[in-house]
Amino acid sequence: MYLVLLGPPGAGKGSQAELITREFGYPHISTGDIFRAAVKQESVLGIKAKQYMEQGLLVPDDLTNAMVADRLGAEDARKNFLLDGFPRTLDQAAFLDDYLEKTGRSLSLVFDIEATDDIIVKRLSGRRVCSCCSAIYHLENMPPKINGCCNACSGTLIQRSDDQPETIKERIKVYRKQTEPLKSYYARKGILRELDGGKPVEEVYACLRQFLVAPGA
Ligand code: AP5
Repeated sequence: MYLVLLGPPGAGKGSQAELITREFGYPHISTGDIFRAAVKQESVLGIKAKQYMEQGLLVPDDLTNAMVADRLGAEDARKNFLLDGFPRTLDQAAFLDDYLEKTGRSLSLVFDIEATDDIIVKRLSGRRVCSCCSAIYHLENMPPKINGCCNACSGTLIQRSDDQPETIKERIKVYRKQTEPLKSYYARKGILRELDGGKPVEEVYACLRQFLVAPGA
């Protein structure tokens, strides 16, 4: 299966990706995680990406596309992949179609996880992530067993630098303008599946899962 998770910041793409990967073993490719790792390493890509991420803006398409092509060329992505947060512009979507066609693949399904702006703000303000394994928590909805400590690897939980109120607002604006048009792009291809991301994590996953076990559903 070649899957894409689409949806506004905080809709729950990363949380659903963790569940899909746990059950189905598809490699989880999150462009946000790759950029954050590059920023941490202070690589050339990371230094370039940081200035956009800190402002809640998209990293330019040429940098993002090259990075994704490189990742999708890896052996573990040949049979299955789960893209989280890519594509995010119509140019990226066209690039992905073209790249996959050239390598004999095509997208199976695109899940659009929707949530209202109010929900997004509450979720992102309370989100904490593990600084070691990137596991996702929420201070109220999904607290860790020990305060500030990852259940899975005991790493320290941190708040993402782009989860500040002003940056959250900008990210929502950017999503509505640049990424939302992808919904009709994929609906026209007949591969869009819409999910209500406002429901609890397990309920969203139960809906999503149906499409994976019975792809025609
Ligand atoms: P990225 O890391 O992709 O951020 P995002 O798309 O803004 O999405 P988030 O990771 O913030 O949210 P999510 O939907 O994964 O929600 P989560 O599951 O964590 O991108 C960051 C930046 O990198 C971008 O701004 C851009 O600069 C750059 N970038 C990345 N990709 C790019 C691209 N393709 N092109 C250009 N630039 C790119 O959940 C959020 C919180 O809610 C958590 O606390 C979680 O526990 C909780 N939660 C989740 N689901 C539920 C639920 N159903 N009920 C209750 N709580 C829930």
